[in-house]
Amino acid sequence: MAARTKATLADKLDQKVFDAIYSRALVYNTCWEDPAVDRQVLHIGAGDRMLVITSAGCNVLDYVLLEPEQIHAVDANPRQNALLELKLAGIRQLDFEDFFAAFGRGYHPRFEQLYRGTLRPDLSPFARAFWDRRVRWFGNPSGSFYFHGLSGIVAKTFHRYLRFRPRLAASIDELFETRSLDDQRHIYDNRVEPLIWTPGVNWTLSRQLTMSMLGVPHPQRKEVQQQHERGVAGFIRESVDYVFRQLPVWTNYFWMVYIRGRYTEHCCPEYLQPDNFSALKGGLVDRISLHTCTVAELLAESDRRYSKYVLLDHMDWMSSYHPDALAEEWALILKRARGDARIIFRSAHAAPTYLERLEIGPERRLLHDRLRFHSELAAALQRQDRVHTYAGFHVADVLA
Ligand SMILES: C[S@@+](CC[C@H](N)C(=O)[O-])C[C@H]1O[C@@H](n2cnc3c(N)ncnc32)[C@H](O)[C@@H]1O
Repeated sequence: MAARTKATLADKLDQKVFDAIYSRALVYNTCWEDPAVDRQVLHIGAGDRMLVITSAGCNVLDYVLLEPEQIHAVDANPRQNALLELKLAGIRQLDFEDFFAAFGRGYHPRFEQLYRGTLRPDLSPFARAFWDRRVRWFGNPSGSFYFHGLSGIVAKTFHRYLRFRPRLAASIDELFETRSLDDQRHIYDNRVEPLIWTPGVNWTLSRQLTMSMLGVPHPQRKEVQQQHERGVAGFIRESVDYVFRQLPVWTNYFWMVYIRGRYTEHCCPEYLQPDNFSALKGGLVDRISLHTCTVAELLAESDRRYSKYVLLDHMDWMSSYHPDALAEEWALILKRARGDARIIFRSAHAAPTYLERLEIGPERRLLHDRLRFHSELAAALQRQDRVHTYAGFHVADVLA
């Protein structure tokens, strides 16, 4: 069994802070993983039964547009599922304009009224109790829903910081208005990059508290630090350089929503586009079921078999401090996998050690021997990834 990493006093403190804030908060107000890349390896179709970790639910709504038989959206954090519940109620009950105002622009002047009168009856008791106290997140004309939740607070802090950097703020606005990579690169290289990486920004990025707010516990931060001579700030700088120099900013709704606090009609997730909204409203949302528990608990509770698994980067949270739980989870993933099952996940480390060392089941077989990885395909697609903050993207098929 993979050795459990011995936690230092600082680690224990960091973990306590992470657990304290994570166990009380909505962390992700939007999914920070690119479903357009996932679609190219998942080949979702009518016969698929998928297990997908919810996070903010954007990607669950993206995948269901490809009409799989069923998606089981699971998350250990009930607030993440409460967000997907609110989106599902919005799709079922609201017209597109009202829905886009709330989840596209992050602001709707009459959201409280719509919530109490139309959406609330559709929600579970937990989701009602959660949103009853936070419906105002959608009601601030100079704010946005996307400036709430832990990751949203980091986005809001950067947004406020730009008020003190008007030249940088103007250049970033100009950057998002470009429609050619050459123009984009020119503005980024000459008027954004030279201004953004100040000692203050680098210092803030290398704080564990900042990373915890972004849902990056210290084991994951350490994975990044070990791979990059300039630490977390260096890794993020490299990612931002790549995103704004190599990928068209005008389709990058991930960085746009965190920098501007809203999407636009032309730069937004698939579920916020009118035709897709109609298809979801027309019945596709009924193919989604929500589960508030761990992946292992969901897999253990029934003998349902899955053809596609989307596991995000949650294993980084478990790998070094809960290797037994990770081994148990993988054993269940393999046990509940259909013969043709495909699994995708991401990691802070390009080659996480747990993949090499983890032993599964009573016969203690190496996990690696039970999976066929498509490393070249994954590496090729990772170059298109609009988020670009994961060193590892993994595409694996279950071997019989
Ligand atoms: C590391 S985050 C992934 C977030 C993702 N990168 C994103 O931005 O969309 C992990 C997500 O998985 C959930 N999670 C973590 N461990 C889990 C587990 N064992 N079972 C189910 N959900 C889990 C967390 O609540 C969180 O929503």
